[in-house]
Amino acid sequence: MTFLSGASSSQHLLECSLSRIRLKDFRCYSDAELSCDARPVVLTGPNGAGKTNILEAISFLSPGRGLRRATLSEVSRHRESGHSWGVATTVQGTNFTHEIATGIEIGQESERRLIKIDHEIVRSQASLTEYLNIIWLTPQMDRIFQEASSARRRFLDRLIYSLDPEHARRLARYEHYMRERARVLKLGITDRHWLSTLEQNMGTSGVAVAASRKNFIEMFSQSQSWALGTFPRPLLQIQGQVEEWLETEPALAVEEHLAHLLALSRERDAEAGGASEGPHRTDLKVYFNSQDRPADQCSTGEQKALLLAIILATARLKAYSDQRRPIILLDEVVAHLDAGRRQALFNEILALNMQAWMTGTDPSVFLSMSTKFQHFHIENAIIQPMN
Ligand SMILES: Nc1ncnc2c1ncn2[C@@H]1O[C@H](COP(=O)(O)OP(=O)(O)OP(=O)(O)O)[C@@H](O)[C@H]1O
Ligand SMILES: [Mg+2]
Repeated sequence: MTFLSGASSSQHLLECSLSRIRLKDFRCYSDAELSCDARPVVLTGPNGAGKTNILEAISFLSPGRGLRRATLSEVSRHRESGHSWGVATTVQGTNFTHEIATGIEIGQESERRLIKIDHEIVRSQASLTEYLNIIWLTPQMDRIFQEASSARRRFLDRLIYSLDPEHARRLARYEHYMRERARVLKLGITDRHWLSTLEQNMGTSGVAVAASRKNFIEMFSQSQSWALGTFPRPLLQIQGQVEEWLETEPALAVEEHLAHLLALSRERDAEAGGASEGPHRTDLKVYFNSQDRPADQCSTGEQKALLLAIILATARLKAYSDQRRPIILLDEVVAHLDAGRRQALFNEILALNMQAWMTGTDPSVFLSMSTKFQHFHIENAIIQPMN
């Protein structure tokens, strides 16, 4: 992949933005609508006004459980199960317009996600990624460098599937076989053929997961050739046994290697639960400015800047890999940045011509962008256009 840089190259990208969003019984909104153009959007207002809820509603236009990882009934205005909610949007592109809607479908015994594209029901959430690329950063992600490796792994996998939606399916396949093997071991079933078939499948799907993570890290390192004002240049490294084997062994041999190791650890795994080896144990290591400091030893603001630099680099990779501008959701991000980094962030958003959605309690931090960004003020779930 060649890596383009600078504002002029963004001219080649196809436009992709939201021009309307409507929320029905979604969290604090009973029925609200917001119309906008392709410029970045700023949402300001006091605590509890409904700013993050709008970003969360947009995040439901991508596969998964949105930026708060909520359940389907949690986001309903009535909270208890059995109540519907909906988010509808118009996606505006260079030469297309699509209507995308999502919500909850309440059956007799179950609730499930309903997705409509141009008024037709689609069964697969992955179809959403053909129309919209959405990447986000929330304050809940601030502590991922301090947290358990699962938080960083989830962050890494989410970045990858914003570039390659197939990654979500690979991961789901691997986790399915891992769960199934754990269940069989827990029941004390010793059918060797059954277990080795599951382990072979874990080998194949696990290597596919590890290979796409390695591929992402390589692409990401190319993105480090462009500088982003005073933002740090993050160095990303993967720490995982399967990824390490892939450095020296062909993929087929690594599949066998993993399956063999799992077969040897059946007894231990039956006792401890889970699986002792595999890409579900991988960790993501992040360093500030090419290896001089691990992220967990950086200051709060530096960690925020690292996360943002990773998100922006991924957005840029996404933009140039499929020639479409991603939509980026930045919840309360600007207030944590010093003036230099804030301006660097605004410049990058404008250079890529992305429709970034930013929230903040203090409108003054966006003042320098008054005509370039569109501003909405929210209070008690009432949305007021300000410019
Ligand atoms: N399921 C729900 N039904 C109704 N209201 C909800 C639901 N979930 C959350 N809320 C409320 O929505 C309101 C707005 O929340 P939101 O997180 O969007 O606020 P915010 O403007 O981002 O505030 P802050 O500046 O504190 O981050 C809150 O008062 C919250 O309690
Ligand atoms: Mg908020």
